[in-house]
Amino acid sequence: MASRIYAWLDSRLKLKSVERTLLDEPIPGGASWIYVFGSATLFLFLLQAVTGMFLAIYYAPTPDHAYDSIRFIETEVLFGAFVRGLHHWGASGMVVVIGLHMLQVFLYGAYKPPRELLWMVGVVLFLIVLSFAFTGYLLPWDQNAYWATQVGINMVGTVPVVGDLLAPVLRGGEMLGALTLSRFFAVHVLFLPALLATLVMVHLFILRRVGPAGPWRGGSERRKSGETASQREGPGGSGFVERRVRESETFYPRQVFMDAVVMLGIFAVVAVLALTVHFPLADKANPSDTTFVPVPEWYFLFYYQLLKYVHGPLEPVATWILPALFFLGLLFWPFLDRNPVRHLAARPVALVAGAVFLVIVFGLLGISLRDLYAVPRIDPAVARGKTVFAQFGCAGCHRVHGEGGAVGPDLSYVGDTRPEREWHLRHFRDPQSVSPGSFMPKFPLTDRQLNDLAGYMLSLKRTP
Ligand code: HEC
Repeated sequence: MASRIYAWLDSRLKLKSVERTLLDEPIPGGASWIYVFGSATLFLFLLQAVTGMFLAIYYAPTPDHAYDSIRFIETEVLFGAFVRGLHHWGASGMVVVIGLHMLQVFLYGAYKPPRELLWMVGVVLFLIVLSFAFTGYLLPWDQNAYWATQVGINMVGTVPVVGDLLAPVLRGGEMLGALTLSRFFAVHVLFLPALLATLVMVHLFILRRVGPAGPWRGGSERRKSGETASQREGPGGSGFVERRVRESETFYPRQVFMDAVVMLGIFAVVAVLALTVHFPLADKANPSDTTFVPVPEWYFLFYYQLLKYVHGPLEPVATWILPALFFLGLLFWPFLDRNPVRHLAARPVALVAGAVFLVIVFGLLGISLRDLYAVPRIDPAVARGKTVFAQFGCAGCHRVHGEGGAVGPDLSYVGDTRPEREWHLRHFRDPQSVSPGSFMPKFPLTDRQLNDLAGYMLSLKRTP
């Protein structure tokens, strides 16, 4: 039955030839696990597109409703927290996988002639992915979103001449507000996806014109016995006659299989992260709370650390000169690196440049993570208090930094408003004695639990 349907469709749509174009692309040197990152990136993009569509069903891009709509997705919508988790961790995964893809292309010298354009479009795609990350970060409209975006736009503002024009365009005015949110939303869900999809097609089109690079010259040790030999030359007699590895195999079946395995693996990892690592919402954005110190996503942390080291007249170096030089260098790298040899052993300069860059980035990331996790060294009594808080279901009525119900007052900063331990102890023993008419229940707490809980309440301050 299925084969008859296929035959009918084929007679109408000429599927055979499409199938051939899609699947018979020769891969010089044969299929390899090292080539999977491109399709893995594409897969994650599709995952982001699908989860994003579902999030858009409930998300409302206005300052009044954005935050609550995310809370609604998290708490009320069937699979809402899971889909948001997938979208969140999928974005992280995309940065990882695109990084690995670029690293592979770099190490294999696959950006060298005739593949300069392929690389350049790839760099633009990478920039688009970062723009997705930047615009997406604002959408939950929590404190982190608001203040991190504020910092980002201020950095754009430090670029001479264009900065003064560009920052208000990004913000939609002089203030970060409703207009900013709706334009970030539009860019995130309409402009960037259209741009990305188009450039992915251009990227793949160029790939099919120039062909994949394959292993380093002389890499015929990858040869698979019995594959068809294919000898291709660089396109159009442009002077790049690459002596290709003789043996190649087609994209289907082995490379397709490897790509599919990796996609499944990535989905499994992202799904497990989405299910187990809860990605919290901070408090709702409060534009008047200028003391808030935002923390960016982990993949921007190294840069955030770099910004801490430069002050005063040197500031523009970090806010735009280095990034601009980096991306220009990356974009035109195939023309800067004139060494015609692809094999890594013959490319000491490229190798050292790449290694130095990675050491700096991961060094800064390491320092930043250490600083972030070293700061809140929690008092054990406070930690115990937190457990008691969870144990007695206080979060059912009280919200702490975006987590919990809204029946009772938000306790995020109760240490500032109620700074006396005595008050808390009396309140816990008998809420009505200090708060007449309160319907907060009395809890059967031991003295130690009372003390720990009070300690936890007092620790909930704006500045610890
Ligand atoms: C059934 C809902 C409910 C539960 C459960 C609950 N509370 Fe309350 N809580 C309230 C209400 C309502 C108020 C406001 C009236 C008052 O001060 O008693 C309140 C007030 C408070 C306040 C004073 C806040 C302020 O700014 O004045 C603190 C502190 C507090 N609760 C802590 C806790 C802790 C700790 C727990 C868990 C052991 C808990 N609550 C469980 C409803 C609840």
